[in-house]
Amino acid sequence: MNLKTIVMVASMIALPVMAQEEKPVYLDTNKPIEQRVEDALQRMTLEEKVALIHAQSKFSSAGVPRLGIPENWMSDGPHGIRAEVLWDEWFGAGWTSDSCTAYPALTCLAATWDPAMSALYGKSIGEEARYRKKNVLLGPGVNIYRTPLNGRNFEYLGEDPFLTSRMVVPYIKGVQSNGVAACVKHFALNDQELNRGTVNVNVDDRTLNEIYLPAFKAAVQEGGAWAIMGAYNQYKNQHCCENQYLLNDILKGKWKFDGVVVSDWGGVHNTMEAIKNGMDMEFGTWTNGLNWGASNAYDNYYLAKPYLDLIKQGKVGTDELNDKARRVLRLIFRTNMAKEQHYGSFASPEHALAGRTIAENGIVLLQNNKNLLPLDLKKYKKILVVGENATKRMTIGGGSSSLKVKKEVSPLEGIKARIGNDATVTYVEGYASPAVAEQDVKGAKAQVREINLDAMREEAVKAAKEADVVIFIGGLNKNEGQDSEGADRKGLELSYGQDALISALAAANPNLAVVIISGNAVSMPWVKQVPAIVEAWYEGSEAGNALAAVLMGDVNPSGHLPFTFPVKLQDNGAIALGAYPGTAEQETYKEGLFVGYRWADSKKIKPLFPFGYGLSYTTFAWSKPTADKNEMSADGTMTFSINVKNTGTREGKELVQLYVSDLKSSLPRPVKELKGFSKVTLAPGEEKTVSITIDKAALSYYDDTKGEWIAEPGKFEAIFAASATDIRGKVPFELK
Ligand code: GLC
Repeated sequence: MNLKTIVMVASMIALPVMAQEEKPVYLDTNKPIEQRVEDALQRMTLEEKVALIHAQSKFSSAGVPRLGIPENWMSDGPHGIRAEVLWDEWFGAGWTSDSCTAYPALTCLAATWDPAMSALYGKSIGEEARYRKKNVLLGPGVNIYRTPLNGRNFEYLGEDPFLTSRMVVPYIKGVQSNGVAACVKHFALNDQELNRGTVNVNVDDRTLNEIYLPAFKAAVQEGGAWAIMGAYNQYKNQHCCENQYLLNDILKGKWKFDGVVVSDWGGVHNTMEAIKNGMDMEFGTWTNGLNWGASNAYDNYYLAKPYLDLIKQGKVGTDELNDKARRVLRLIFRTNMAKEQHYGSFASPEHALAGRTIAENGIVLLQNNKNLLPLDLKKYKKILVVGENATKRMTIGGGSSSLKVKKEVSPLEGIKARIGNDATVTYVEGYASPAVAEQDVKGAKAQVREINLDAMREEAVKAAKEADVVIFIGGLNKNEGQDSEGADRKGLELSYGQDALISALAAANPNLAVVIISGNAVSMPWVKQVPAIVEAWYEGSEAGNALAAVLMGDVNPSGHLPFTFPVKLQDNGAIALGAYPGTAEQETYKEGLFVGYRWADSKKIKPLFPFGYGLSYTTFAWSKPTADKNEMSADGTMTFSINVKNTGTREGKELVQLYVSDLKSSLPRPVKELKGFSKVTLAPGEEKTVSITIDKAALSYYDDTKGEWIAEPGKFEAIFAASATDIRGKVPFELK
């Protein structure tokens, strides 16, 4: 072989090696993300950086095509992966490959009081997002259940900051284990739908930190959320999507959040404020990017051409732009360009089972006089099902959480499938709600029908007299003014004549079980006339199967309420103080810390059903609680224990709640606050010790004069409870 050949061969071998070494850092998945971010950033033009930080379509933003950096695709959330919409429409694109699994609403997840259910939820929905090539899931929502009227409470995790914090963290980790960012929303104080786009919320700093921020803080610091969504409303007279205090001082400053702040759709209102006050990705700024002309196209979003022009005119520097671009690049390298590639899975039997399992663990048995439930099919042979919610589709509607599902088993279908030939099941509608057009289908028409509630009620009552047992299935629905985005409810009562119908059914047949499907509390004037009551939430694709399993006793219910059911609206703090809804401009949270059971405790108001309440088909006995020591040192912990025994004849899950009470404090504090919980499974006769460890953080309050959390030395009580009003034992202790 002559020299020339040798040189040629050598260079051919060398080339790939050389090329190998020249692989750009940002493309090298073995390199640390921060190096990849910096490498990509310094390769990008000004225009490319600006393109990263605003939408290019309804649910996507640009990548850097020249560098092979992919786009970002968002999807609602939080109960399933929303159907594909047209490039610039809310309406569905009519795909045939995007019918998803609907998981139960987040109130149901919270009602499981089981972080393992959250982990299962997050993993499963994250797999669906990944499969649908979405790298940002627009959820979960963790706004606090301040009143029973908020139209979107069904998308959130209840009234207590500790419960929401414990339940949101595993969901986030589950989603992100798929290389999909959770985008926790809506940061912050978006606790009602009425006037959500304008109202400036006034709340004292202590309440902000003790009630409304903890779930977001846990999401960032424990969940490691890669994205946060700014809320529509204002706080300190700045829109939350361009808010110095919330986004820069707290989220990115104090909490060291390194992810992206995504605006709510249409939440950005001012270029300079968005630049300076922490907004990273602007979405939905009311545009029709295809034909409304330049004045509204995506290039004219606040953080698009107007921003680029300010830079080119020298009116703003590029420091903020580089920070925003870094955060978006970090998001991309954590998701679409991550080292581990995930492919997810979609609408699989495993996901249906996951949804069903969460649903079965979240259904709450509220009342069961005469042990009517579970239904004894040896005794009852003629079963009547009454109520529109036995058949009404609940996975569609309700706003942005609306889903196009592969399957939705209705309560009636689930009950019929479960009962089979063991009894006869007949159905009478009993009541109906006004028909509404399906929200996601362009040009959909409502099938308007004649509704005569009196005639419907008489028909149901007549049928009830012939039945052995009646299952009424009602509650709220996803129509505007019920459990739906964009509006709040007007009252606590059930609509469409349900209360009169339930009372009439109770008079017609003493064997009546009432199933409430809702995401909010409702009043129950008939509560004493009805032997059995179940809160069944919006349970998603497997709703009917989960409900039937509980009603027939295949599953022993173990759900507990994540929010208070007040007897009447005036029993709610914000309502009682006239602090809701405020005006379109201003609202002051006069009830402060005293939200939910905190209010009921402070005013000694007996709820209809308290926070944390839930019954079982078995019975449990609790021992006296004990502690591992009788005082806590400032940097120490204390472990409280209690024995729980299943004294019934069937397996069940019992929930132990631990509240802390500060017996003497220099600032007013709620009577007690949830600081621990544990759910245990017990076979008949089995006894287990439940231990819960707390540290001084559980004893602390936020001193807004000092801007820090304070645990004052002194006397405390650890309170073991089966609900906010069912105290089972107290252990006094001191903080030294
Ligand atoms: C909606 C909701 C938000 C949702 C977004 C996109 O207005 O407030 O939760 O993720 O817009 O649909």
